[in-house]
Amino acid sequence: MVKIGEVKKVAVLGAGIMGHGIAELAALAGYQTTLRDINQELVDKGMENIKKSLDKFAEKKRISKEMADQSWSRLKGVVDLDKAVKDTDFIVEAVPEVMDLKKQVYKELDKKAPKHAILATNTSTLPISEIASATSRPEKVIGMHFFNPPPLMPLVEIIRGDKTDNETTQTTAEMSKKMGKQVVICRKDVPGFIVNRLLGPLLAEAARTVERGEAKVEEIDSALAYKIGLPMGIFLVADYSGIDTIVKASEETKKRDPQAPGPQKLFAEKAKKGEFGWKSGKGFYDWSKGRPTIPTGVGDKFDPIPLFAPVINAAAWLIRNDVADPKDIDVGVKLGLGYPKGLCEMADEWGIDKIVNILKDKQAKYGEYYTPDQLLTKTVSEGKTGVKAGEGFYEYAAAAGAGWTYKATIFKREPPFAWLTFNRPQRLNSISPELTMDLDHCLDELWNDEEVKVLILTGAGDRAFCAGADISGFKGGTPNMAFEVTRRLQTVTTKMEKFPKPIIAAINGFALGGGLEIAMACDFRLAVESATFGQPEIMLGIMPGAGGTQRLSKYVGLGRAKEMIMLGDRINAEEAQRIGLINRAFPADKFEQEVKTFAMRVAAGPPIALKMAKYAVNYGTEVPLDIGLILESGLFGVLFGTEDMVEGTTAFLEKRFPKFKGK
Ligand code: COA
Repeated sequence: MVKIGEVKKVAVLGAGIMGHGIAELAALAGYQTTLRDINQELVDKGMENIKKSLDKFAEKKRISKEMADQSWSRLKGVVDLDKAVKDTDFIVEAVPEVMDLKKQVYKELDKKAPKHAILATNTSTLPISEIASATSRPEKVIGMHFFNPPPLMPLVEIIRGDKTDNETTQTTAEMSKKMGKQVVICRKDVPGFIVNRLLGPLLAEAARTVERGEAKVEEIDSALAYKIGLPMGIFLVADYSGIDTIVKASEETKKRDPQAPGPQKLFAEKAKKGEFGWKSGKGFYDWSKGRPTIPTGVGDKFDPIPLFAPVINAAAWLIRNDVADPKDIDVGVKLGLGYPKGLCEMADEWGIDKIVNILKDKQAKYGEYYTPDQLLTKTVSEGKTGVKAGEGFYEYAAAAGAGWTYKATIFKREPPFAWLTFNRPQRLNSISPELTMDLDHCLDELWNDEEVKVLILTGAGDRAFCAGADISGFKGGTPNMAFEVTRRLQTVTTKMEKFPKPIIAAINGFALGGGLEIAMACDFRLAVESATFGQPEIMLGIMPGAGGTQRLSKYVGLGRAKEMIMLGDRINAEEAQRIGLINRAFPADKFEQEVKTFAMRVAAGPPIALKMAKYAVNYGTEVPLDIGLILESGLFGVLFGTEDMVEGTTAFLEKRFPKFKGK
């Protein structure tokens, strides 16, 4: 049995794209790490790639130079398997995806790895239980599916084999978190696990839609990109992944899984012609001049929701069979496939009744593959049709009149602090309408909460605080819609200035556009040294719309503000601190602790005096000096009636630290 605290040494087998990336993550997480491959050349190449990546992270200030050096010193490359796995507690195997090869490796590992060691296999397709059967310790074998490239992709999908025990699952999940990843757990060893099981039906449905003559490739991709907001169209994904690979994967999956859609004629024909996608220069798109762009507008008439009906059906199957929860499915598609929203969230918005009707219609026309999952029909028969009914895959307490469901953020109340984390890392935490509403609601929720003294805003992942408004929602917007969206965000940022407690922006990466505008409405701005600041809207043909043109000059002066706004120049944390845009910058590895220390100092202050000081500064600067000074005197006077003032002055005279009560 290995608990997370007992893991000291990690070995990664296979120094290829996945293996070296995983080894880098293990070393960054503080583990003594051995990278192993079958010959010195492969090992050297892997180590060299890690070095380059660590240096790049340090150069971009995502980690400190010291951290890069320390991580590098924890790494060792070897060829000898005995040496690689000796004394290790946790082994990640990332050899090529060939079952016989994996089994061979596990047979050897079983003999050579310490009895207590966990054996995690990085695979996106192969059954974990079959790999585990090559060992005498299947309870310690688990799937650990990293996404490519591991150092940058935020997700790890953990897959339990038939015999994997709870402790192995828990340690592997904690290990993934230590490597900086968000985790989804696939509780059963089903083909495709969670993420790829949901990608397959979308690819298949898109192909069938073209085969049936219902839409063209570009129409589908354009609608998926610009109406749904997928990072790229599905045929572009096919081209990118390799059409031959998709054909092979769907054949393999069909063999093991009768539920799977199976290979599609459209893909098979392309593959037969040698049109594999980017690697052959041509697939559905022409790649000879670089990455193709998906045309806008051509998908305006195409409704993409029916494409998702079989995908939602597959998700329902996963939930009904206790493989995954809606939340895991949604995190999986958002972080693994870059969806702007979770699949279950989208289904709830569209209406589960609508999805069932689409499926029934397709079932009648095209056969049993489309039979709606029992979970969907049951949910609909119970009236749980989604957001409109107050319940679907999720409960919408707000609609039912109770609390609030934070959809685009994570709200954490940890008195004396509360944290609101912008949680759209796949889009660099850019601002969606849901995110604005969450922020607004969080202010209301904390307004009279006496235990919470400080609100801290930050971003999920390690790349961004917030990269501004979600640009993928811009297409098709009308002037009036844009007016309303900016007004809404302006209302929330002004409310932040009225909020009766200090707000800290913990800027853990990009703070651009609306992200910087939110940060500027906070009382304090603390940043990682690698953070980047800017109002880049001008390069989109627009301008700041959430207070940037008004607030930035107050911090940095008119001249500098115009430069940032009218040239769209971005600045780094050092410069931002120098010109007064941020209060302090800290190295990434010390950031969280430094934010807490700073917040603790603020939280120890006298709440009423902090509130009045905040108002005096925020509003005193808006009015003529005489009026500002009168405002100051008035607020100063109010404080003379407080118990905190008595405590503050008494503590001074008694030479002790004051204990303020907010009274
Ligand atoms: N809206 C929507 N998606 C955004 C976004 C935004 N404001 N900012 C970043 N993203 C998405 C990217 O499209 C990309 O998605 P993909 O992986 O599906 O392609 C993902 O976040 C990562 O960003 P990427 O551009 O690949 O990272 P990078 O390191 O090359 O560049 C930035 C980072 C922040 C410099 C770049 O993303 C950027 O310029 N973003 C827009 C900032 C902006 O103009 N904000 C003001 C909006 S009004």
